[in-house]
Amino acid sequence: MAIERIWLTGFMGTGKSRIARPLAAALDWTPLDIDTMIEREAGDSIAHIFKEGGEGAFRALEAQVVDNVSRMPHVVIATGGGTVLSQANRDLMHRDAFVVCLDAQPETISRRIMESDDHVSERPLLAGGDPLSRITELKRDREPLYQQADLTITTDDLTPDEITHRILLAYRERTALAGSAP
Ligand code: S3P
Repeated sequence: MAIERIWLTGFMGTGKSRIARPLAAALDWTPLDIDTMIEREAGDSIAHIFKEGGEGAFRALEAQVVDNVSRMPHVVIATGGGTVLSQANRDLMHRDAFVVCLDAQPETISRRIMESDDHVSERPLLAGGDPLSRITELKRDREPLYQQADLTITTDDLTPDEITHRILLAYRERTALAGSAP
């Protein structure tokens, strides 16, 4: 069975969006970003969707976008950190696809988020309280779901190039095993 999509999962700040672009370029596929697609679909920012409709409204939009994307061929998809929370999303993500989890220590995640342009303002689930404790706690709760990926890469000490290279190698190994290498 051919692999039509690569899904990048993992906690916030693990580099999913950062890696989707070079990975897609290397495969001559299209990079997609679930959060960006939700914002486009809603015509609103993630922070505002959470503020107006709560997490439920955001998850409903997310499920809709995941469903659409799960039918597209040759795409590399950066998911949101909580996309794996839904069983329906996980089922769609594992269909004819390769699911890669990008992992990192809570301290690394916290540092990366603080260094990013949108840091906590665009991540409502980290607002209010100490971000490091919140990251540690949320990440621990979600760990069993992230572990359902086909491959997990610990990214703390890797450059984006190295991460991309590792995913490509694993993807090629997998397609060769399935007899469908491009
Ligand atoms: C979320 C992660 C965010 C975004 C939303 C919810 C989560 O995406 O989807 O704020 O539940 O972990 P990133 O992982 O791209 O920050």
